[in-house]
Amino acid sequence: MKFLNLTFGLLLMAYTAINATPCAKKPIGFGQNTTGGAGGVEYHVNTLKELKDALQNNGKPNDPKIIYVDSPINGYYYDDGSLMTAENLAPGFTFEKYINCFTEDGKEWLGTPECDEIEKLRKNGMKPLQNQIKVKVTSNTSIIGNGDASRLEELVIQIGSVDNVILQNLSIQAPNDLFPQWTMNDGWNCKYDAIVVQSSTNIWIDNCLVDDGKRIVENEPKYFGQNVERHDGLIDIVKGSDLVTLSNNRFANHRKTILIGNSDSYTADRDHLRVTMYNNVFINCWQRMPRVRYGKVHIFNNYYYADNFRSYPVRYHDDGTVSLTHIFLGLGLESNILSEYNSFNYYKLNKFTNSTAVILSNYGGYQFHDNGSKYNGHKYNLDALAKKEFELNVESTKAKNLANGGTNPEWVNENFTTNTFNPNDYYSYKTIRSIERVNKLKTSVPTWMFEDSSDSDNE
Ligand SMILES: *[C@@H]1O[C@H](CO)[C@@H](O)[C@H](O)[C@H]1NC(C)=O
Ligand SMILES: *[C@@H]1O[C@H](CO)[C@@H](O)[C@H](O)[C@H]1NC(C)=O
Ligand SMILES: *[C@@H]1O[C@H](CO)[C@@H](O)[C@H](O)[C@H]1NC(C)=O
Ligand SMILES: *[C@@H]1O[C@H](CO)[C@@H](O)[C@H](O)[C@H]1NC(C)=O
Ligand SMILES: *[C@@H]1O[C@H](CO)[C@@H](O)[C@H](O)[C@H]1NC(C)=O
Ligand SMILES: *[C@@H]1O[C@H](CO)[C@@H](O)[C@H](O)[C@H]1NC(C)=O
Repeated sequence: MKFLNLTFGLLLMAYTAINATPCAKKPIGFGQNTTGGAGGVEYHVNTLKELKDALQNNGKPNDPKIIYVDSPINGYYYDDGSLMTAENLAPGFTFEKYINCFTEDGKEWLGTPECDEIEKLRKNGMKPLQNQIKVKVTSNTSIIGNGDASRLEELVIQIGSVDNVILQNLSIQAPNDLFPQWTMNDGWNCKYDAIVVQSSTNIWIDNCLVDDGKRIVENEPKYFGQNVERHDGLIDIVKGSDLVTLSNNRFANHRKTILIGNSDSYTADRDHLRVTMYNNVFINCWQRMPRVRYGKVHIFNNYYYADNFRSYPVRYHDDGTVSLTHIFLGLGLESNILSEYNSFNYYKLNKFTNSTAVILSNYGGYQFHDNGSKYNGHKYNLDALAKKEFELNVESTKAKNLANGGTNPEWVNENFTTNTFNPNDYYSYKTIRSIERVNKLKTSVPTWMFEDSSDSDNE
């Protein structure tokens, strides 16, 4: 009996070492040269101040350093332990007063002197809020979650104008904006992303959970017919950033998920924004997984699932058409996307009608190829879908401009092509071709969430 147990234990250990390595050492893809703080000083941090100090690394901010996050760190708490509120950031401001400055239907701003003062206070509060919650990551840094309690919440992790950063094994909850803005046409809008990669190179985000945490939008009060949304994006990769890999992450319950390129007019992004995404899991996110402008983006072996998104359900119209409110991939201006062996799942709709936007939607992108992906477990011709969506967008854009005398953008003259970039020109990689295996990511990524069950899940 003892002997049997021992053998069994050894077997399990061997499996664990092979199949459930908590953290990979090296990324695949465009971010492959990222080493973070390898070989540098090690820090263990428990508070926001300790985290910010560690990033400064005793006056040598760009020297290699590994920062282990040992405790939950919440940006809403000041160093003395007191809580940041909208009222103490902008004395005189309350959210209630802001709401009361709109007509009951939210269609008009009252514009009284008191209301203009409230709006001024709202804007004034944003700067000290940002100073408090923004964590400026320096070059040559690894930030690694260490232990069950480690968590980064109510923070903006700003990876700006730096090189060589790893975020790994972390639980990251998107910050809540204390000053969300109501806009008549666009609903609730907020300012702060969980992670911003701006003008930075060699970035690897791996084995992280990135979501909205406990404060999810449907639990927020409803004003003007919409629950107050206090989150912006989960990850923005913008302004000339390059050589990024996102792997083994779980993104959940979020609206604006991953944005690669944030402006059509920012043409300096051409030849940058190269991103590889593999083994990521998306559960009930609404859109942008990712939405791409300019970048070369290689998306392989990711698992996508949606059955509903909060208060944004499928809409069935009287004429029999359906508006799908989930959009996994967004093909934007001059994007160049290769999708391989991804598993797309959407249980509101088993058969596509003419509204196919759930897998992808077109915003002017005409370079796309898919190899081997499945929709709800079945083969689906994504190339034909991407072509159709592009051509529909060309037609409707031309028609709109003809009607209102606008100028057509250049992309309407392009022809759709499946000739994308070839990742092998930049790095070597292997895809898993079994979609059943890709589906297993749902219950194994990130590894630390499933540690107790990891041994039963091995093949
Ligand atoms: C990684 O570094 C090698 C050696 O410097 C270089 O040849 C290669 O282009 C780099 N790869 C990427 C994807 O940046
Ligand atoms: C990162 O560290 C390497 C090796 O220590 C160094 O050569 C490089 O200059 C550092 N990067 C920056 C941006 O300082
Ligand atoms: C990753 O986090 C888990 C718990 O969240 C912890 O048990 C594990 O030790 C961490 N791994 C590393 C490499 O720090
Ligand atoms: C789909 O489009 C075709 C023509 O483009 C049309 O005949 C058909 O009725 C549409 N089906 C649905 C379900 O909207
Ligand atoms: C599809 O992927 C397989 C496996 O990576 C590869 O061998 C093949 O060349 C690819 N085919 C196309 C058409 O991209
Ligand atoms: C698109 O294809 C048409 C027909 O083959 C061709 O005349 C045109 O030049 C192409 N446009 C571009 C921008 O390559």
